[in-house]
Amino acid sequence: MVLKNNNKRGYNLIGQIFTPEYIAKFMVKNISNFITTYNKSYQDLKVLEPSVGEGIFLKSLIQNNFLDITAYEMDKNLKNTLLKNYPQVRFVFENFLGSDLNEKFDIIIGNPPYLGQNYNADVFQNYTKKFPICKKYFVGNMDLFYYFIHLGILKLKPGGILSFITTNYWLTKSKKTGIKLLKPHILEECFLLQYIDLSNMTLFKGAEGQHNCIFILRKKTDLEKQRSVNKPIQVIQITKNGISSNNNEMFNTLIFKEVLLGNDNRSIRNYRSAITNNDLKPDRSWNLLYPEEIKEIIDDIEKSCIVNGKISYLKDRFIVRNGIIFIKDNIFILNEGKNLKIEKQDVYIKINNIFVKILNIEKERLKKIYKSKSIKPYSYKEGDHTGYGIYFNKNEFNGANIEERNRFFEEKYPNLIQYLKQYKTELQNILVNAKENPNDYFFPRRGTFIRRNENDSNETLIDLEPFYEKGRKIFFKYISNENIFGYSNSSYFATSDTYFLWPRFNQKSIDYTFMIAYLNSNLVRFLFNAKNIRIKRSKTKLEYDLPIPFIENFTSEKDCKKISLIKKLTKQLVQSSGNRKEIQVRIDKLIFDLFKVKEKEINLLFNFFYNC
Ligand SMILES: C[S@@+](CC[C@H](N)C(=O)[O-])C[C@H]1O[C@@H](n2cnc3c(N)ncnc32)[C@H](O)[C@@H]1O
Repeated sequence: MVLKNNNKRGYNLIGQIFTPEYIAKFMVKNISNFITTYNKSYQDLKVLEPSVGEGIFLKSLIQNNFLDITAYEMDKNLKNTLLKNYPQVRFVFENFLGSDLNEKFDIIIGNPPYLGQNYNADVFQNYTKKFPICKKYFVGNMDLFYYFIHLGILKLKPGGILSFITTNYWLTKSKKTGIKLLKPHILEECFLLQYIDLSNMTLFKGAEGQHNCIFILRKKTDLEKQRSVNKPIQVIQITKNGISSNNNEMFNTLIFKEVLLGNDNRSIRNYRSAITNNDLKPDRSWNLLYPEEIKEIIDDIEKSCIVNGKISYLKDRFIVRNGIIFIKDNIFILNEGKNLKIEKQDVYIKINNIFVKILNIEKERLKKIYKSKSIKPYSYKEGDHTGYGIYFNKNEFNGANIEERNRFFEEKYPNLIQYLKQYKTELQNILVNAKENPNDYFFPRRGTFIRRNENDSNETLIDLEPFYEKGRKIFFKYISNENIFGYSNSSYFATSDTYFLWPRFNQKSIDYTFMIAYLNSNLVRFLFNAKNIRIKRSKTKLEYDLPIPFIENFTSEKDCKKISLIKKLTKQLVQSSGNRKEIQVRIDKLIFDLFKVKEKEINLLFNFFYNC
């Protein structure tokens, strides 16, 4: 969220949004539950507010008898008011990121500025040049408040406490998305003691759609580090019952008072996360909203997914790859009425504004292409293709010489190549910009080959064309919150907004019918929610978190009967026969039974923790 302050005050972008008083009051009171390591009284604790704004945290700190307070603010327009209102505070009207690392604190509290690096590259560039700390912890895609956490950690005394209110997106980010240095730094130096999920509430006027959280870190002592001490994480979720429709401050104040009392009711869920500090991974999403009751069920499900003593996840069984990445969809995908004409057996394509009939052998190189919107559970919408893609397979030519290869294709497919040659400059420019070979402009950029283990030692390059054409395939949308997995065993070519699941090994053990039943089931829907699995371009969460059952683990006669019934019903769904809803309900029941989990219990827990 870019918070602009383009303004009379002289700063363009400094993430200036002030905290409502009831939140500051709450946060100051809340830290007192965590100040246990000291025998000192509040007056002796050194407190830091690193980005003080108009000083709302100072007011509460002083009211709560904190006396030794330092505050940073770089907006000098706030100076006079701050000095006048808080004469007892030591102010530094400088950039906090340039502050002295030797200055240490017992408590750091505040609402640091949010500013995404993507849209404010110049601000970050400037900071990395000026401040060593910013240079050290810079990562593309980061947010300005990450620096405040990094520097906060460095400025905490061992045992000291940091509490910030921030957006909550960073918690569920994994590597490559800006948290590369932040999460390892937190885990190495601190315990995450409390996480308050405020995503149902709108707290900051002018920042709608922002999901916020409050969290508490405590810096580890050397002994705790040496002994790899573990700590639980307390989770507090404000439910939808806990929000007032018009964001009434009085109502919110009452809710936060209840949180302080440790209440657990319809408005507030207060529980210990099944994830402890030692479970948190430095390069992965942190799924903290994970009650122990839910974990018990998931442990049961995962028992059926054990292969050679280890739970197998999607990444262990499948390679997940995008569909075909054409150099440019608009050029490679031909559309009827625009640049393609089909008349009975004959196909024409537009070259230099004239429709030219193509050869029979060329027709085979035109493939119906689907986008991810065509995917539906167990299948796809057949008539929904987006056009016909020109798909050449480099494997057709044996040899390494690119010029000879291109000549081979030109002679074999003269009209299609002639068509592509119209766009030679444009296509080659795209390849040059992507640092790829410009002479490859007849071919898709990626997606037609994968490396796969044929057995334990041998890795081979697999040509996907026969699989797109005739093989069994499972596929899903590249952006989706739901577990919708399509299936086809006939020709299905898709663009890069579709992910395909290709078996990691040439294993016969993948029973496709059972697999799509499982993937589209209510049980997997439950796993998606409980493990916070979302497919948002990045597929990492799905690959690492979705357990995949091993059919051989179900050995009893009863289980085998259930499996064969599941498969029979699933085949009906693949062939689109029978009442879909009814069949799905039956499959879901059988799958819950097979995994020995009680559907009623799951629904109850689900409504309690996630539908709130
Ligand atoms: C999100 S506001 C919060 C202000 C205050 N803590 C509150 O909760 O109301 C962040 C404040 O940080 C200040 N700020 C931004 N970058 C800063 C920096 N690098 N050093 C010190 N203050 C900064 C902004 O001027 C703004 O007043």
